[in-house]
Amino acid sequence: MSERTSLDEEAAGRGGSAPLTVQESTAADAPVQVSTGDLPDLQEVLEIVEAAHRSYARVDDGVVADYIPALAQANPDLFGIAVAGVHGQVAGVGDSKHEFTIQSVAKPFQFALVCEALGHREVRQRLGVNATGLPFDSVMAVELATDGLTNPMVNSGAIATTSLAPGRTADLKWRFLREGLSRFAGRELELDEEVLESERATNGRNEAMARLLGGHSRIYFDPDEATDVYTRQGCLLVTAEDLALMGATLADGGVNPVTQRRVVSEGTCRRTLALMLTAGLYERSGEWLYEIGLPGKSGVSGGIVTIAPGKGGLATFSPPLDAAGNSVRGQLATKLLSEALGLDILASSAVAEVR
Ligand code: DON
Repeated sequence: MSERTSLDEEAAGRGGSAPLTVQESTAADAPVQVSTGDLPDLQEVLEIVEAAHRSYARVDDGVVADYIPALAQANPDLFGIAVAGVHGQVAGVGDSKHEFTIQSVAKPFQFALVCEALGHREVRQRLGVNATGLPFDSVMAVELATDGLTNPMVNSGAIATTSLAPGRTADLKWRFLREGLSRFAGRELELDEEVLESERATNGRNEAMARLLGGHSRIYFDPDEATDVYTRQGCLLVTAEDLALMGATLADGGVNPVTQRRVVSEGTCRRTLALMLTAGLYERSGEWLYEIGLPGKSGVSGGIVTIAPGKGGLATFSPPLDAAGNSVRGQLATKLLSEALGLDILASSAVAEVR
């Protein structure tokens, strides 16, 4: 049983280019065939994580984010790496237990929670799912986008996502997101009040973005309050080990491998990973996919979470960033881990005999 569904209802409505159509199952989350394979055993993973840390600990390219005053104080030498498998095993090295504010790494998890609550069709229609190819804080992206739709991995789409979180008040939305992000991590996440005050005092760009979205009818709550809740969730404190477990939850079809509690559905996970693949590293997402072959998401405090579907989550933390706002050591270490652990989802080796 299937129905004909438009992948681009917006374009169809405007008489734009012909909409792409696919056969879609009527079941909300029809099970798909999943090909998995485990990570190597914990000791082997630990040795590879240690090698990644040793290889890049002395790289000193990049600069610590300073557009939020409190972030500028971060120690550039901090460097932690963690890998969490879908069976709950965690290998952490270096500063893997150091707490930092999650920043944009919250975006895929927030999207997953809102997608789960509203359904994947509604969030696609109201938020958009196409990459902007522009920086994370681009105002122009909203203006260039069809109908003000960007995607939930950049600030504009993420603020719109926050505005859709269940709850009639800002406090209820905040509670929904904080509790949901905490379920991903498997522990209650605390706020960094100092970073929050610093961001609130310098948040003009995000506030302007929310109002601009309002001009396109693409914000679904009071724009200032939605921006404030968005800012609060970015100030939740996590460690690389937390991020690895949050990633492992997305890798494990939505079940946290340590608490064994379901956070979101399998269908929500794969749609979240699709967004991470196309836009998780903003305008560098193509280069990331080309080099690493896995869905990832970066944040300005220096975190990166990367998902190996069916296998586990990888997380790195190192504050110095490249010009696009992505951790320099984090990108290097993740590439090494992807290669050494054989995680690239685009890689294959021939099974047919070569003549
Ligand atoms: O919206 C902001 O400016 C920050 N709270 C988060 C931005 C961010 O982490 C982008 N990441 N590279």
